[in-house]
Amino acid sequence: MTESILVTGATGFIGSNLVNCLVKKRYQVSSLVRKGKSGHSKSKIITGDLTDKKIDFGNEQYDCVFHLASHTPLEKNKTILHKVNLEGTKNLFDQIKNNTKSILYVSGLGVYGETGERVVDESFSYNPNTEFVKTRIMAQKYLEKNCKEIGVDFSVVHFGDVYGSGGWFYEFLIKRLLKHTFRLPKKGDYYKGFVHVDDAVGSMISIMEKNKMNDTYNVVDSMPTKFRDFVNYTADAIGVKHPGNVPVFLAKTVLGGDLIKLLTTSMKVSNEKISKIYNFKFHSYKDGIPNVISELRNQNRLQ
Ligand SMILES: NC(=O)c1ccc[n+]([C@@H]2O[C@H](COP(=O)([O-])OP(=O)(O)OC[C@H]3O[C@@H](n4cnc5c(N)ncnc54)[C@H](OP(=O)(O)O)[C@@H]3O)[C@@H](O)[C@H]2O)c1
Repeated sequence: MTESILVTGATGFIGSNLVNCLVKKRYQVSSLVRKGKSGHSKSKIITGDLTDKKIDFGNEQYDCVFHLASHTPLEKNKTILHKVNLEGTKNLFDQIKNNTKSILYVSGLGVYGETGERVVDESFSYNPNTEFVKTRIMAQKYLEKNCKEIGVDFSVVHFGDVYGSGGWFYEFLIKRLLKHTFRLPKKGDYYKGFVHVDDAVGSMISIMEKNKMNDTYNVVDSMPTKFRDFVNYTADAIGVKHPGNVPVFLAKTVLGGDLIKLLTTSMKVSNEKISKIYNFKFHSYKDGIPNVISELRNQNRLQ
């Protein structure tokens, strides 16, 4: 059984849920955490930034490194994106390459670019249309090539839009719906693949536990959905009115061109491959959103 795990991005939305789950499953977890931040108390905290030339990992030997740390497409400065998401990944690899058996790299579906009405699976070629994604692919390719050279197992997961009681779903959608300030670019008329955070975490752990490394997986639920329908369903679930629209040029000035392009690119994605090794808890946003909303209600976070 895999014992010792390193999680980068451990303070983030998906990373914190992953650490939580791994700790509950009694793995020995190390969390890479930036100075001034705190990580899960039952994980070993390793203080460091991806760009630090010397991070003190001690003598730990990892069975798997889950690499989630990255700037999001909200970061508009291309130099920073390059420095953290590409150079930071290379820097991390240089420091852990002799201390791990495998690396699982987390990326997004943006790698496939414009795919029209075709249902996307893992055989599709990458066709990135943002600088953000181009940089992420360079980091992925670097890891892939270098892991192969030294015999470290490598896998990549491309997540759809991951929703749960944190991250973009809470910070950008729920909070703005509650304040009536959320608006839909392009009327929300594009298909997206969504995935509940429990399934995002569960699928990564399954890949590792079932020893299905050295492969690529797209991770979304079973129901490609128009963004507008997802948003309106969420609005109904929290009892607020459906949001209006915003012109794309205006949305870009607030959120940046890359993020709006990633958001408004329509894509239908198959989860057939990951479903062979992982049983989804939530097959559709219609099951997953009520679960998240009741969690937020219990925590009094829907004011
Ligand atoms: N959320 C989604 O819908 C989604 C979809 C597709 C792919 N992904 C990918 O999944 C991964 C995790 O996403 P998330 O939603 O959990 O993101 P998040 O909440 O923004 O978390 C990002 C994490 O990366 C850390 N980080 C950023 N810059 C760093 C640096 N220079 N050195 C060390 N750590 C650094 C952050 O640390 P601080 O807490 O110190 O800032 C945080 O722990 C990312 O790679 C993202 O691209 C996410």
